[in-house]
Amino acid sequence: MDIIAREILRHLPKAGESRRLFHGRGHCFAGFNDLVIDYYPPIVLVILYRERPQDWLIELTELLMAALPLAPEGIVLQERFRSGAPSRLLQGILPDDVEANEDGLRYRLRLGDAQNVGFFPDMAVGRRLLRENAKDKRILNLFAYSCSFSVAALVGGAEQVVNLDMNRGALELGRLNHRINHIDLRRTSFLPMELFRSFGRLRRCGPFDLIVCDPPASQGKSFTAERHWPKLIRRLPELLTPHGEVLACLSTPTMTITQLRQMFTELLPTARLVERHTPDEDFPEADIERGTSVLHYRLN
Ligand SMILES: C[S@@+](CC[C@H](N)C(=O)[O-])C[C@H]1O[C@@H](n2cnc3c(N)ncnc32)[C@H](O)[C@@H]1O
Repeated sequence: MDIIAREILRHLPKAGESRRLFHGRGHCFAGFNDLVIDYYPPIVLVILYRERPQDWLIELTELLMAALPLAPEGIVLQERFRSGAPSRLLQGILPDDVEANEDGLRYRLRLGDAQNVGFFPDMAVGRRLLRENAKDKRILNLFAYSCSFSVAALVGGAEQVVNLDMNRGALELGRLNHRINHIDLRRTSFLPMELFRSFGRLRRCGPFDLIVCDPPASQGKSFTAERHWPKLIRRLPELLTPHGEVLACLSTPTMTITQLRQMFTELLPTARLVERHTPDEDFPEADIERGTSVLHYRLN
């Protein structure tokens, strides 16, 4: 518990912002690769990837109640090692409408509904990069999920964002995320479609100045990194303006950053890597080849 207590104290949240308190998935803390703790005031979300004894859970709950400056209203445990990744309360209550709060923007969570709670904290690096680069651009957000990239882009001054995801429910949450941030919905659209059957439709919406590609690590037949990244990279030029940009987000243990870069070199030789971005110190990673990364490309 000492390692966890030390990390929590190093990552105490600032002014009501959400924060990752413990990032075990980066393999930097021996014995705790299975543990992630996120703080979304007023609740704490503990995610476990393997079963731990009840005594240990009680000790962790007491530690969290004592360590956080404002005692959380609820501590939720999500058990990823069980089928369907069920959630239950370890302490307190689950308030209505819990939100992530990042850089002054709000993202509604769906705690307990599904494996993914509606928001990926480690992609803050991508949202910030996009917000800084979005001004006056037409943007295509692929694998949009709850549209956090779209919210960040439009607040950063994007002219228009097209969001595509085959999960209609996730896009509904995305629509809500625009509304709670007071974004004019006329500047965005939501396409509930399978990507690889939609290039014709996307071409008619384009061309785009910037495309965000943030696919899942792996999702049945819908996306596997080795098979679908090459298919996607090949099709990017038909959707982009001559000097268009791509943010390629990678967070899968099955493919390295070097492999993704090789694919771009081979399949899209006109694209130049502007910079590689990695998450900040809240997400320590032992193997930077496999942790979350965002590759920023520009066509020459
Ligand atoms: C990792 S999430 C994307 C996270 C999102 N970019 C964000 O910022 O929160 C992956 C999403 O890809 C979608 N997806 C997976 N395969 C797809 C496909 N072939 N076509 C369209 N959407 C797909 C899933 O429905 C899921 O919402």
